Amino acid sequence: MSEVCEITGLTEDNVAKLFYLHKQLTEGSEIPVPDEKSLIGFIKPLENTVSSNRIHDSEQKRKDSLLKHLEKSIASKFEGAKLSPFGSAESGLSLKGGDFDLCLQIPNADEKKTIKRIGGMLRGQGMEKVQTITRAKVPIVKFIDPRSGLNVDISINNSLALYNTKLLSSYAKIDKRVKDLAIIVKHWALHRNVSDSVNGTLSSYAWSILVINHLQEQQVIPNLQSGENRTIIEIDGNEFDISVNEDASLAQPSQQNIAELTMSFFRNYATKDWENEVISIRNGKPISRDEKGWMNENPTALDIYNSDKENPGRMGEHHLAIEDPFETDHDLCRVVRAEGELRIRNELLRAAELFGGGSTWKEICETVDADRLKGMEPVDIFHDLRDKNDDLVRNMLEKTKAEMDAVDRLIDALESERQSTLRMAKAMRGVIEETSDLRKEHKAIITGLKSRNKEIDEIKLKRDKINSDIILPIHMIEDELSKVYNRLTEELDIHRVPSLAKEKEQFSWFMELQAMHGKAREASELHHRFIELVKEQKEEIKKLKIYETKHDDATAKLLQDEPMLKDKNINSKEVGSYDRRVHNIQKALRKRRGEMHKLRREAGRLDAWLRKKSGNQNRGRGRGKGNRRGQKPRDKKEDSGPMTLGDISGLLSGMGNESSSKRSRKVSSKKAGMRKMGNLGAHRGSRSQFKKKE
Ligand code: UTP
Ligand code: MG
Repeated sequence: MSEVCEITGLTEDNVAKLFYLHKQLTEGSEIPVPDEKSLIGFIKPLENTVSSNRIHDSEQKRKDSLLKHLEKSIASKFEGAKLSPFGSAESGLSLKGGDFDLCLQIPNADEKKTIKRIGGMLRGQGMEKVQTITRAKVPIVKFIDPRSGLNVDISINNSLALYNTKLLSSYAKIDKRVKDLAIIVKHWALHRNVSDSVNGTLSSYAWSILVINHLQEQQVIPNLQSGENRTIIEIDGNEFDISVNEDASLAQPSQQNIAELTMSFFRNYATKDWENEVISIRNGKPISRDEKGWMNENPTALDIYNSDKENPGRMGEHHLAIEDPFETDHDLCRVVRAEGELRIRNELLRAAELFGGGSTWKEICETVDADRLKGMEPVDIFHDLRDKNDDLVRNMLEKTKAEMDAVDRLIDALESERQSTLRMAKAMRGVIEETSDLRKEHKAIITGLKSRNKEIDEIKLKRDKINSDIILPIHMIEDELSKVYNRLTEELDIHRVPSLAKEKEQFSWFMELQAMHGKAREASELHHRFIELVKEQKEEIKKLKIYETKHDDATAKLLQDEPMLKDKNINSKEVGSYDRRVHNIQKALRKRRGEMHKLRREAGRLDAWLRKKSGNQNRGRGRGKGNRRGQKPRDKKEDSGPMTLGDISGLLSGMGNESSSKRSRKVSSKKAGMRKMGNLGAHRGSRSQFKKKE
């Protein structure tokens, strides 16, 4: 078993991991101060960090375009909803390629349900890695937009975040050093892996608050939350003071340069009396724990970190206490876990020591766990071209252009097939609609024939049944009735009086004849109805034939206008099959257009590389003046460093796009605008353009 430090309780391995913190806790070591010369030496690299994080126009455009798209496709679906950007993209304190925070404000929404619904909508739009987090204080949906490559967080009714973004952006406007130091600190924190609230270190926002506090302490910026005029708002029954006093100013702001401020930032927090102080930019300087009422609770981070229990539980609260400027009950270190706290303190000490100990800025920011940042770093999109000669790249470009031509022809062919199939389906629908009245009548007659037939059968059955029960035809029944009646009612001949039995017999025969007569009359009526119906049926059949001829005539006339429908079965089933065909062609078109998009990008990349190379050669031969009009000379760093798609987009647009416009004319004049090779950014507009056309 390894040795354990008696003071810190850290094992040897952990002492190595937390070297600087351990040294401070055991030896209380002094942090060296850099001399003036080495401090000045930091200025250039720090400025480079700031400028390399400059947000390119194309990145801003991608954000604007995505926001528009989301407003249209999501926010508009919820009554009274508003989608607003916030966070670093809005305050200006963002690293290049930082995430895009959006807040959807919906009054009286069921937030969890809404987040889930939005998640579904985003998945339907082809957004990637859509993740809904409904258990957090503020429900959120995270996703990546594959078109712009942006990481997006949409939260619901996160109103305070909109106000604190506004506060940070007001600070950034006061003095350029706010933004510079925020970017420097965020860059360092990102690379040293201490800016990840999900994994137990401080949020990027908390680091921005620490920057503001430091600059307030250094007398660079005033306290913008000071002043008499107060603005109080109510959210969910709680009041918040969101006052921002844009007029606040310092009589004599400090003129320290960025190297001095960076150095003092690390020294300040490396040696901060965290035991007794709470960071509060609302107050303009740290406040005491007693005043704030936030105690440095047990167990400590070391207790938890050193515990050999399988589940040592949570450490006490408020160790690196940082008050949120508006939500003053919220301690921004609440997300920090034991190991995170120790690493943050170790890293602050490390940076402060290296700053004074002759290390470079690059060494101070040396990336920890580099894998974690894969995909975040700008990719060198020319990496595979760097060892190829220009002829080979030119060949690749020609090949790509040839492929573009082939795909373009395919797209044109699919497009015309789609058009003709659409026309066919439309024409068929037209014929069906035009003849629909005739078909309706025809159908009505057929329905009539069917029900009449049924009636005829029923009547016939009834009539025949009655007839089979009656032994005499109706006229004979009537004759017999009158005979029997006469016999029963004639004057009696006294000599020929019938016997009683005979008279009874006559009488019952009369009754029987009477009943028979009723039935016979019914059978006769049925028979007449039967004859009538058969006649009607014959008439209707004649009519049916007339409608059929009319329908055929009308169809033939319509077919004269649409000869392509000749010999085709025209019915709604057939129309459905044409609709399906259109759908399949559309699918194929989308696939081909995707291929075209990729090819266009590749051609743009190859073209940009060749231009970049020829630009370099011209400059190398001292022909710097030979640059094309509008082409800014690029600095050395850009020539050798990795280039992003945004950079290429800028490069091409600055070069007048000469070859690309020629190419787009060749590919297809009608879609020239859309197919410009130089159009390399993420163009959401083109998606909706396709939609409209389809
Ligand atoms: P982020 O941590 O993403 O900060 O929180 P950021 O300033 O945008 O930094 P990067 O550039 O992405 O790394 C986004 C926003 O969420 C709110 C703040 O408005 C912050 O700007 N937020 C974050 C809070 O209100 N409270 C928190 O504890 C964290
Ligand atoms: Mg952010």
